[in-house]
Amino acid sequence: MTTLGTPLSPSATRVMLLGSGELGKEVLIALQRLGVETIAVDRYENAPGQQVAHHARTITMSDPEQLKALIEAEKPTLVVPEIEAIATQMLQQLEDAGVVRVIPTARLTMDREGIRRLAAETLGVPTSPYKFCDSLAELQAAIDGGIGYPCIVKPVMSSSGKGQSKIDGPGDVQKAWDYALAGGRVSHGRVIVEGFIDFDYEITLLTVRAKDAAGAVQTQFCDPIGHVQVSGDYVESWQPHPMAPAALQKAQQIAQAVTADLGGQGLFGVELFVKGDEVWFSEVSPRPHDTGMVTMATQWQNEFELHARAILGLPVDNSLKSPGASAVIYGGVDATGIAFDGVAEALQVPGSDIRLFGKPESFVKRRMGVALVHAADTDTACKLAKEAASRVKPRKA
Ligand SMILES: Nc1ncnc2c1ncn2[C@@H]1O[C@H](COP(=O)(O)OP(=O)(O)OP(=O)(O)O)[C@@H](O)[C@H]1O
Ligand SMILES: [Mg+2]
Repeated sequence: MTTLGTPLSPSATRVMLLGSGELGKEVLIALQRLGVETIAVDRYENAPGQQVAHHARTITMSDPEQLKALIEAEKPTLVVPEIEAIATQMLQQLEDAGVVRVIPTARLTMDREGIRRLAAETLGVPTSPYKFCDSLAELQAAIDGGIGYPCIVKPVMSSSGKGQSKIDGPGDVQKAWDYALAGGRVSHGRVIVEGFIDFDYEITLLTVRAKDAAGAVQTQFCDPIGHVQVSGDYVESWQPHPMAPAALQKAQQIAQAVTADLGGQGLFGVELFVKGDEVWFSEVSPRPHDTGMVTMATQWQNEFELHARAILGLPVDNSLKSPGASAVIYGGVDATGIAFDGVAEALQVPGSDIRLFGKPESFVKRRMGVALVHAADTDTACKLAKEAASRVKPRKA
């Protein structure tokens, strides 16, 4: 039996989110709706999630001592990692010592290496061919030794395509190495080089591990989410993405295997490449996924509500409400405290809604909001979502 308390009282169920960007903000809102007391942690003040939580704390989450001090001071019931750059070893240590419960898991929440080796080498799931390299010479040797051209280089610790580039021939290798070193979150100077998969389409399969009535953890899948990435960053997503039954079955088997090994309860975003009936595992987020923001328009319980329920040990309903799409609203300017014109015009698009994340600082390519649309079919929804997003005009205030 799950018992929830009253926030700001001794009975409170207290959840600490490590990372409070736009995805964390929605998880916090979902938790607030269940009367959970929330603690939003980020590396900078007034992060989106900090604006809606009971408590806001600003620390360097990759610093083990700062993380330990905060967790010991706050004594949350649960700690939920929402970003990559966290001192995971310290989290593991605190969990092992019984100080806190990390959910869905303190394991493997951060770098590409652990998850890729787990999938390909331990679980035998199909992936692109890959090598990890610590120098330009090793990178060149890996390419010459079998990865070949074209290939993709990524820092082991990065997200949203940062530091990632495609190598089409020998002339691009040095540039890709330099770019990866500059773009990594924590400068390990280590990269993964992957053979390029010429997929027909890519999906995110939101996979939920949640307790059933008998208290056993069951795995459930949302309808596949299709998306378009530009320079490794998502710009548009839609749900459902149609899939051949054989491909869908393989996708679900892969997602089942990977999430079962990670364990715990929560929602995972499993990224997969598909060509015909062939499916490759790319990576997994043990938390809501940016492409899954579309579920705010398409599901009865969106990915944030599913995550909130699953981590609290509550049952979930992953069913689709309507086809729909999402389109990213970029900052377009480098400035703090920007203004958004055209919101009313955006909301005149049929079936549309928008989220403005409230980030204190805008960059030209920073995601500042998202347009959401539900429609009779995903083609219509995509067109309308892009239209709505384009009507929002961020500018210097
Ligand atoms: N081996 C590959 N072959 C073909 N395309 C790839 C490959 N690896 C990555 N991509 C493309 O680049 C995109 C981003 O890659 P990946 O998900 O590994 O990076 P990321 O930095 O973790 O991005 P995000 O945080 O947005 O998920 C993929 O969604 C896909 O479109
Ligand atoms: Mg990705």
